Amino acid sequence: MSAEPIAPSSASGSSQDVLEWWRNGVIYQVYVRSFQDSDGDGVGDLDGVRSRLPYLRSLGVDGVWLNPFYASPQHDHGYDVADHRAVHPEYGDLDAFDRLVRDAHRLDIKVIVDVVPNHCSIEHPWFEEAVAAGPGSPERGRFHFADGRGEYGELPPNNWRSIFGGPAWRRISEPDGSPGQWYLHTFAPEQADFNWRDPDVADHFEEVLRFWLDRGVDGLRIDVAHGLHKREGLPDHPFAIDDELTGDPVNPYAWNQPEVHDVWRSWRALAEGYSERTGRPRALIGEVGLLDAAQLADYQRPDELHQCFFFEFLRAPWDAEEFSKVIDRGLGTVAAAGSPVAWVLNNHDMPRSVTRYAGGAPGVAHGDIDLGLTRARAAALLMLALPGSAYLYQGEELGLPEVTDLPDHVLTDPMFRRTDGARRGRDGCRVPLPWAAGQDSFGFSPLGTPVPTWLPQPEWFAHHSVDRQLGSGESMLQLYREAIAVRRRVPALSSVRFRWLPADSGVVAFTRGDGVACVVNCSPRPVCAPVGSQLLLGSDPEVGEKLPPNTAGWFLLEVAR
Ligand code: NOJ
Repeated sequence: MSAEPIAPSSASGSSQDVLEWWRNGVIYQVYVRSFQDSDGDGVGDLDGVRSRLPYLRSLGVDGVWLNPFYASPQHDHGYDVADHRAVHPEYGDLDAFDRLVRDAHRLDIKVIVDVVPNHCSIEHPWFEEAVAAGPGSPERGRFHFADGRGEYGELPPNNWRSIFGGPAWRRISEPDGSPGQWYLHTFAPEQADFNWRDPDVADHFEEVLRFWLDRGVDGLRIDVAHGLHKREGLPDHPFAIDDELTGDPVNPYAWNQPEVHDVWRSWRALAEGYSERTGRPRALIGEVGLLDAAQLADYQRPDELHQCFFFEFLRAPWDAEEFSKVIDRGLGTVAAAGSPVAWVLNNHDMPRSVTRYAGGAPGVAHGDIDLGLTRARAAALLMLALPGSAYLYQGEELGLPEVTDLPDHVLTDPMFRRTDGARRGRDGCRVPLPWAAGQDSFGFSPLGTPVPTWLPQPEWFAHHSVDRQLGSGESMLQLYREAIAVRRRVPALSSVRFRWLPADSGVVAFTRGDGVACVVNCSPRPVCAPVGSQLLLGSDPEVGEKLPPNTAGWFLLEVAR
């Protein structure tokens, strides 16, 4: 562990930080489909999100990131975009979006939308035109179409595998009905990869960015930002291990090509232009699935993306040494390069932290959920004490465990079918939220809604409902509210200054600014709070002079009093 204070370039707590909200912001991820249904179809929508803005205001978050709500056949719940500038009817329309932005801004909540530049739906007009136009046409040039191998072109053009399972290629029928070319899809076959070497693609996305920036959004979350370009010539990839087996981007020819950085430079320049003209900073947040922190840092150079999710933190097990190593890597590479780290414990793609920390097999067995919840409370204090921004995923503040026993027939994630059930997929973290314990659908849909929620909610969701948690001082929801409020109130917690404290094995301990310490006890023994300190906030009522196992605390140090 490094003992040196780490102070990335920006001056924290300064007026620049107030302006550059993303540097320290707590952002709440809304999976629109599962947040709040306003019109009784069992599916969440934009008006539903709008109706819950007061909830988000009282939680204290600085902004919301909305998962894709665009026109889409929903094969990957909106990450298969058919029209980037239209709202899918299940989620509302552009007026509903404008109302949402207006009301969010009135409450001083920033709005971030998702942009999906690596691929589009095969129902996108460009893809339909490409199929109709035939081999060698400029329309096909916007995607990766190629002839198959084998005597009759019956084999895929190369050995790439899809992240969601199976080959990364699908064969089409040509307009005359004959078996035709193949197209590349690094995700589901319903998601065709764009060819970013075709200038039409960059032009199209520039229009898309302008469209949403003109509508007032404060930030753009960029899907698969390490994708976009593929190695010229699409050669066979050299590893025995592949994307299909790991679910990670390991194919060196499909991901992280150097040309992609030019795209981020041009998007950054465009975003900065908007920030300067309007006086409202607009931020680009990358979803970069690369596991190498140094490579990740490259995407956050001062003229590229403003920040990228730091997934190593989410992937770390409940282990002090692992947490410390990962934090060191985040601060030592990403933050040291000048970009604030975007810490994340949960999102719509990963099993929920309560279940991950429960000691069972993540996403499969429950383990000890009480233990998982106790640890997830402590992890929340850990994340919210780190320098940088924090991204919460809806339901994290309710301590929702993963729903691990959804029956096969309700599962919708393409991953489940593409892997013949070997991977159950991500539905378990996308079950509609419980708002009110005593109501049908736990208040997710309006009273009297005759249709079920799009994924079934388990009975035990009642215990996690918002109304019950608001009535209990010790609930997870109250902990998140308090932690976010303390983080705002105590200047040390928005300082960039970070220093490790000497600690026993199994304990993570550091200070922020001049006088606040965060201690997380991952060991099986109680540990002492810093000498002479005063408790600011504990993850558990028993945290005081001692921290029991699996708890965390924020302490005001003597020097600061
Ligand atoms: C990453 C998104 O987070 C995930 O939900 C989606 O399936 C893939 N990108 C493909 O767009």
